[in-house]
Amino acid sequence: MTGQSISSSLVERRTFPAPSAAKLGVGRFHVESLADYHRLHARSIADPAGFWGEEAAKLSWFKRWDRVLDWQAPDARWFVGGTLNACYNCVDRHVQDGHGEQVAIVWEGEPLSPRTHHPAPDSRYAHEPELRTLTYRDLQQQTSRAANALRAMGVKKGDVVTIYMPMVPELAVAILACVRIGAAHSVIFGGFAPHAISERVMDAHSRVIITADGGYRRGDIVPLLKNVQEALEQTANHGHIVNHVLCLKRTAHQAPSQRFSTGDHLGATVMHWWHDVVDSASDACPCVEMDSEDMLFLLYTSGSTGKPKGILHTTGGYLTYVNMTARLTFNLMPDSGQLFWCSADIGWVTGHSYVLYGPLMNRVPTLMYEGAPNFPTMENGRGDRFWSIIARHRVTHFYTAPTAIRTFMKWGDDLPARHDMSSLRILGSVGEPINPEAWMWFHEHIGRAKCPIVDTYWQTETGGHVCTPLPGAIATKPGSCTVPMLGIDAAIVNEQGQELGPNQGGLFCIRKPWPGMLRGVYGNRERFISNYWGRLKDPHTGEPWYFSADGARRDEDGYFWIQGRIDDVIKVSGHLLGTMEVESALVSHPAVAEAAVVGVPHEIKGSAICAFVTLKPAWLSRNGRAPDDALRKELGEHVVREVGALARPEQVRFAEGLPKTRSGKIMRRLLRDVAAGVEKITQDTTTLEDFSVVAKLRTDDE
Ligand code: WTA
Repeated sequence: MTGQSISSSLVERRTFPAPSAAKLGVGRFHVESLADYHRLHARSIADPAGFWGEEAAKLSWFKRWDRVLDWQAPDARWFVGGTLNACYNCVDRHVQDGHGEQVAIVWEGEPLSPRTHHPAPDSRYAHEPELRTLTYRDLQQQTSRAANALRAMGVKKGDVVTIYMPMVPELAVAILACVRIGAAHSVIFGGFAPHAISERVMDAHSRVIITADGGYRRGDIVPLLKNVQEALEQTANHGHIVNHVLCLKRTAHQAPSQRFSTGDHLGATVMHWWHDVVDSASDACPCVEMDSEDMLFLLYTSGSTGKPKGILHTTGGYLTYVNMTARLTFNLMPDSGQLFWCSADIGWVTGHSYVLYGPLMNRVPTLMYEGAPNFPTMENGRGDRFWSIIARHRVTHFYTAPTAIRTFMKWGDDLPARHDMSSLRILGSVGEPINPEAWMWFHEHIGRAKCPIVDTYWQTETGGHVCTPLPGAIATKPGSCTVPMLGIDAAIVNEQGQELGPNQGGLFCIRKPWPGMLRGVYGNRERFISNYWGRLKDPHTGEPWYFSADGARRDEDGYFWIQGRIDDVIKVSGHLLGTMEVESALVSHPAVAEAAVVGVPHEIKGSAICAFVTLKPAWLSRNGRAPDDALRKELGEHVVREVGALARPEQVRFAEGLPKTRSGKIMRRLLRDVAAGVEKITQDTTTLEDFSVVAKLRTDDE
């Protein structure tokens, strides 16, 4: 079977063989054949200490470890006794090795300024973007300066620094500056609202925030500093004082931002401009020696309760795992003309592992783009910026999300066709299952039917890819994340921990520890155990296994097919949102008595949010309001303000009451069915939905 469509029915049967290095036009593959993969994988499982020891040795350590692993399930300590520094491994090591002048980061800003030379005849190209490149030496100097500035604010080893910035080079500098001096970073996606910031800042006990006055997004300015200022008020109301805010000036020339001078106080917080305190700081700042198990970062992700969890990663294991997965999945090789572009925001784990740490450790230049794919915006909201970026920079690797691919499909085949993307060698997908149509479009229109697509399945918690094709070794099937990464003992099991046969749907679990695994949920041991380790165990030994909360099946070739989350989180445009987070936001509006949120299938977003809401009649009559479109809109805006734009409900539906079981649990499955069955909101604004009849029918089977 080579690239032929045998059946487009429910079971996807198309298979695409892994290309030869010669055919793809790459020097060689790290893993060259299926037989190689099987041999390496078997070895990694049979001799984990030997295997992971060799992987860890590819990093630079101040002191070598005494033991590869201490495992007291579910607690792992990797590379026990070893010491290293993450910034050293991403930056200083390369300078030491004589590569200081090589490009580490290629950055393109979103705004376009009028071309000053060679005016182009086609008006679309009459403007040029702001471009910057940073070498490893630049990064060494800038991270040292920023680290010294943070030190002057009292930041020390073990502290958590919160970072809320746009996709600009200083974001990379800020992250690496923290780890240079042993502080952990907690990056918050720039699309989150003040409440989400304050919640995360307090949970992490963070005393310093790094931000920017604003960030560019589709020609608009996201008011980052303003959001931080609101968050500061909220944390202060809870008695949590942030001591310092370090702010980069990014958008000031377009929108005169909040005025302050370095040293001014905002409440109890001291404000600093980046250009005042970083640019003038000394560029001498040695990398601090960290224990392998010292915290590297926290990254908050949504769970099935209303409160986001701070996923904790430590230094030696995470770096070893990300270094290896970046190298193998994308076949990264320094000095071979590669330019790696992962379009994820650094506010998500994909950005941490594969915009920043993975490429930098592997000494392959990484491209960062600040803004939206449809800026400048063409007719019907379309855009071809991504294809123009690939063509202009000669990008070799393009790693993006299915929701983006579906959007590009909708925007039309003519847009990629206008650009020369012949530099591309490997494509990647991440964040949610990719539907075969989107896979095929990506393959044909972006990959010229030539580039392998790596569909990488993983989570914030796993640190790096856990199932993915290796481009030179594993044949791909559209929609399947194929086979486990080296060192990953993945299986589909039932609730009793028994491994299921081919094509039987079950629970995706990992039966052995791996270096990139989370070490905890910050400040919440109970949640760490119950979320990940409480459900599945080895039926023979009773040892807990890692459960990802995804349902999946494995086909007769041993390929994994992820079916999606089985807990109360929804993937909206590839981003996790807890239903409870959105429900809490809704009930914080005075009109709302009760709310239930479910996911509905959505053509572009994968899933979208449908909110069922019961209202407070007294509030309605007191305020002369009705359950109408204006109220729907207001509730939607309220959610955006509380959580962020991602959480905006696609539908808000008013109900008499929510369907519940006898024990009082909301019948989400029923609501999901109801939501999925109706294309559009019932525009009859006066009728409330009444679920009492259906609810009664369903009471016993929930
Ligand atoms: C989903 C993102 C199918 C899955 C890296 C997982 C995927 C959740 C894939 C984690 C994929 C991610 N195929 N599903 N290739 N990649 N997922 O923590 O449901 O934001 O549990 O990490 O995304 O989302 P997170």
